[in-house]
Amino acid sequence: MDLGLEGKTALVMAASKGLGKAAAMALSAEGCTVVLGARNAATLKQTAEDIRETTGNAVYYQPTDVGVKEQIEALAALAEEKAGGADILVTNAGGPPVRTFEESTDDEWQQWYNITFMSVVRAVQAVLPAMKRKKSGRIINITSSSVKAPIESLVYSNALRLAVVGLAKTLSRELGPYGITVHNVAPGYHLTEGLERIIVNKMKEGRSREEVLEMWSRSIPVGRIGRPEDLAYLIAFLAGSRASYLSGTTIQVDGGLYGGVM
Ligand SMILES: NC(=O)c1ccc[n+]([C@@H]2O[C@H](COP(=O)([O-])OP(=O)(O)OC[C@H]3O[C@@H](n4cnc5c(N)ncnc54)[C@H](OP(=O)(O)O)[C@@H]3O)[C@@H](O)[C@H]2O)c1
Repeated sequence: MDLGLEGKTALVMAASKGLGKAAAMALSAEGCTVVLGARNAATLKQTAEDIRETTGNAVYYQPTDVGVKEQIEALAALAEEKAGGADILVTNAGGPPVRTFEESTDDEWQQWYNITFMSVVRAVQAVLPAMKRKKSGRIINITSSSVKAPIESLVYSNALRLAVVGLAKTLSRELGPYGITVHNVAPGYHLTEGLERIIVNKMKEGRSREEVLEMWSRSIPVGRIGRPEDLAYLIAFLAGSRASYLSGTTIQVDGGLYGGVM
C-alpha cells in the first residue's frame, strides 16, 4: 500500500532514540523529509546519519529541548526553511520518572507538566501556520498505555498524559476543517533505553532483567515485548493519505495488553 508520504515533511520531536527515532526512520523510509530534535547534539547527529544512510532521504536536525518554547519554534522554523514547513508533526518527549503520588513534589509536577503537556501545545502552535497554509496536516502524539490504564508508580505519566489526549480530541474538532487530523498513539512495553530504565527500577524488587522481561511478556497476549518499529508503523499509517478519514483517536500498540473493551 502506498501511504502517500513521498515528498512530505515530518517534524519529529525527541527523535534521537527509541520510539521517536523509530517513527522518524519509518516516515523517512516512506519518502518523507524528516526534521529531528532532541537535546544531545552528538546522538542526534548520529541518528540523522543512520536514517539518511538507511533510507537515502533528506534529514535535517537541530538540538532541541522540548521543554523550551523557543527551541521548538526554532525547529519548526528549520522545517520551514529547509523543507517547506511541516506536513506531519510527531510529538514526543522523555518519560516522567517513577513516582507514587506521595513521592511527587510541586516542582516536579510543574516540570513534567511543561515537558509532557506544554511541549505538545507549543509544537502544535509552531507548525499550525504551515499546516493551515497547506490545508492539510497530521499531528500524532506519542503518549503511553497509561492513558487507557494507569501504571503503578507513574503518577506524572498517568495524570499529565490525559491532558494531551483531551487536547488532541479538541484539536481534531477545531482543526479538521483545515484538513488536519490529530491522533494519540499509546505504546505499551517497547524495548528502548527508556524501558531499560524502568527495568532497572523493577530489578530493585529482586528480579533479574530477564525475569522482568519474562514477567511482562507473560502478561501480554501476543507474548512478547514490542519493538520500537511496532509503534512506528502505526504512526506512518496515520501520517499518510490513506488515514484521511481517521481523526481524534487514541490507539494503543501493546500486543493486546490493555484489558478494556474500548
Ligand atoms: N518504551 C516504552 O515502552 C514506552 C511505553 C509507554 C510510553 N513511552 C513513552 O514514550 C516516550 C519515548 O520513550 P522511549 O522509550 O523512546 O524513550 P528513550 O529511549 O529514553 O528515548 C527518549 C528520546 O527523547 C529525547 N528526549 C528526552 N527528553 C527530551 C527533551 N526534554 N527534549 C527533547 N528530547 C528529549 C532523548 O534524547 P535526549 O536525551 O538527547 O534529549 C531520546 O531521543 C516517553 O515519553 C516514554 O515515557 C515509552
